[in-house]
Amino acid sequence: MHAIGIERGKATPQLLEVPRPEPDEGEALVRTLRVGIDGTDHEVIGGGHGGFPPGEDHLVLGHEAVGVVEEPGDTAFTAGDVVAPTVRRPPPSGSNEYFERGEADMAPPEACVERGIDGAHGFMAEYFTSPAQFLVRVPDDLAQWGFLLEPLSISEKALELAAASRSTATWAPDTVLVLGNGSLGLLTVAMLDDATEVYCLGRRDRPHPTIELLDSLGATYVDSRETPVDEFAAVHEPVDLVYEATGYARHAFECIEALAPGGVAALLGVPGDWTFEVDGGRLHRELVMGNRALVGSVNSGPRHFEAAIDRLRGLPAGFLEDYVTDLVPYREFERAFEEGDDGGSDGADGGTVIKTAVEFDTHEER
Ligand code: NAP
Ligand code: BGC
Ligand code: ZN
Repeated sequence: MHAIGIERGKATPQLLEVPRPEPDEGEALVRTLRVGIDGTDHEVIGGGHGGFPPGEDHLVLGHEAVGVVEEPGDTAFTAGDVVAPTVRRPPPSGSNEYFERGEADMAPPEACVERGIDGAHGFMAEYFTSPAQFLVRVPDDLAQWGFLLEPLSISEKALELAAASRSTATWAPDTVLVLGNGSLGLLTVAMLDDATEVYCLGRRDRPHPTIELLDSLGATYVDSRETPVDEFAAVHEPVDLVYEATGYARHAFECIEALAPGGVAALLGVPGDWTFEVDGGRLHRELVMGNRALVGSVNSGPRHFEAAIDRLRGLPAGFLEDYVTDLVPYREFERAFEEGDDGGSDGADGGTVIKTAVEFDTHEER
């Protein structure tokens, strides 16, 4: 079967011919419908994050997937069920306490592998297999958008963690600053429809499709070249919640200055090493004296995928059609990875594309 992946020594994704996987006991064989692409995929392709499965010279990409059960095997699924896989699996050393508790998303990197990202092949292939406990049933009518459940679940978890850190007081984020107008930032802005004011920070000139999308969502675009994050509160207002999705390491600290007392910042970006100066004393004091919090959040579990199903249904009308700008047949996969095409940080000028998915099967016959 065909798969799309990276090969050692090659700079761009390749069409690979790989054996169709055979499901083991407790696993289902899934026929892939669509696989989304995000900033992490570009980081993996660029070599800044993740890695090959042990002893292998290629990595099948793709961690935002939806598919249809082809062979349920001995699982409780039925052929034809639409499913979305979670990303994390036990490491080669075997299962551990995180997986035994059903909390793989809380495992440190050495206690898990991530399909399509780090140490395990992903879902960007005509078929994939998965143990049943890592497959979430998706309502049939959501099949075409099911690849968005993984990124939605990422924000479900981060928002849950942020709220949990505020559990000693009444807290509902009325004002929110989302850092990053990439695929994760924009999806999160669309999820925040309970907030009174949502700001989203980018570094693009108008006209730009991501800024038009923000306008249509009623959010306020903030250009980081005019208003750096540490000056945001003075120009606009201190916010209850910051959601960082730039991967720009200074934002993790500058955002403390954007928080209102009692506010929390959820950090999602995965930067490389970078040494820079901050006023650590001031930021420490602001955190303590203002009851402010910083929480890092990575990955998500089945519970967050379930919440994402409801969230997907509740997204503003017309958003999905504007957000998913490119569905690329898998044989034309090169187009899906062109720099900047997902609004990603690689392309200074960007393209007209916001969110891309690679399509294996249109599911139209259903
Ligand atoms: P993306 O599409 O590359 O988006 C990142 C956005 O941040 C881009 O639009 C980029 O703008 C913007 N940006 C970067 N530096 C900026 C700056 N200094 N000022 C203003 N805007 C800036 O990536 P994504 O898919 O949205 O993901 C965002 C980050 O979250 C990545 O680091 C990714 O690895 C991470 N992530 C983490 C998790 C998790 O579980 N923690 C899950 C998914 C993603 P330009 O395009 O104009 O450069
Ligand atoms: C994925 C997560 C993963 C994280 C870190 C994100 O893009 O959506 O599932 O845990 O990257 O590798
Ligand atoms: Zn991702």
